[in-house]
Amino acid sequence: MKDMYILGIESSCDETSVAIVKNGVEEIATVISSQIDVHKNYGGVVPEIASRHHVKNITMVLEECLEKANMTMDQIDGIAITYGPGLIGSLLIGLEAAKTLSFVYNKPLIPVHHIAGHIYANSLVQPLKFPLLAVVVSGGHTELIIMKDHYKFEKIGGTLDDAIGECYDKVARVIGLEYPGGPKVDKLSKEGKDTYKLPVPLQDDSYNFSFSGLKSAVINLVHNEEQRGEEIRKADLATSFQKVAVESITSKVRKAIVEQGINYVIVAGGVAANNGLRTAMQELTEELGVELSIPPMKYCTDNGTMIAAAGYFAYQDGRVADLNLNSKSQDVLK
Ligand code: KG4
Ligand code: ZN
Repeated sequence: MKDMYILGIESSCDETSVAIVKNGVEEIATVISSQIDVHKNYGGVVPEIASRHHVKNITMVLEECLEKANMTMDQIDGIAITYGPGLIGSLLIGLEAAKTLSFVYNKPLIPVHHIAGHIYANSLVQPLKFPLLAVVVSGGHTELIIMKDHYKFEKIGGTLDDAIGECYDKVARVIGLEYPGGPKVDKLSKEGKDTYKLPVPLQDDSYNFSFSGLKSAVINLVHNEEQRGEEIRKADLATSFQKVAVESITSKVRKAIVEQGINYVIVAGGVAANNGLRTAMQELTEELGVELSIPPMKYCTDNGTMIAAAGYFAYQDGRVADLNLNSKSQDVLK
């Protein structure tokens, strides 16, 4: 079969990224323009500002990616685009760019769900094997998904309230760490001791998660200590929080592996960069004798590479859109 080069565009939040991937598995070139320094001043992503930066950056990022790959648009076989979920203004900028390229160069337009992208980040490490259990842990999602084949997603559980990344970011903010807080809590947790008692959420018989109670417990603890004039031991709190957050994920993953007869587990999403979770997943899968794939750090947070990889398999599955394709701030992975 002829090699297929897919150009992937990702702009769902505060990263403008374009990448080219060969046959869904081999990264040719990636360019990511991050807006962290801009949004840091506001303690989180400001949607309107994010959209404006995407407008400013997208053409440069595209040109730089083609240059890096030493390719022209004529050599590209399809344009994969994150159509959702995400910030609607941000998504629309990437989508308009993708539609324009698709129209001008007469290339198929391939719609990619952002979470499919995170899952297929693993295919850049080694080809996916089925059936697999995908542990999706990001800023907006916490889900357990079983895949029996490419592009066949079966959700068996998910968060009932906040996503794990969102919870990390709130905890970071309440203990005074800069945006983006997740990686900073992770780093700080290495320096502390597990001394604060926090509730392990939702230890029930489902594959679901819940993080709002844990988040509130940390917020209340900080406020109570402040009211008593006590100093919070930030590193200890980070360690205690991370232990519970990671445990709440791995306990449900353990249940899913055992009950669903899983032999291959992949981790996907920004929180896959978390050192505590990476270690715990390694220990768990070793203990149960199942294979584990976690993408390297560069493929964990948002990037166009994962969208181009997913785009290849979406195309094989017949998923091609016309120029009426619209962005969606919310959408179920199917
Ligand atoms: O996947 P992602 O880039 O965006 C979404 O699709 O949501 O994930 C971003 C989330 C943020 O909440 C960020 O704080 C979290 O991933 N994150 C981490 C770490 N690195 C990123 N959370 C905990 N530990 C980390 N090392
Ligand atoms: Zn993401």
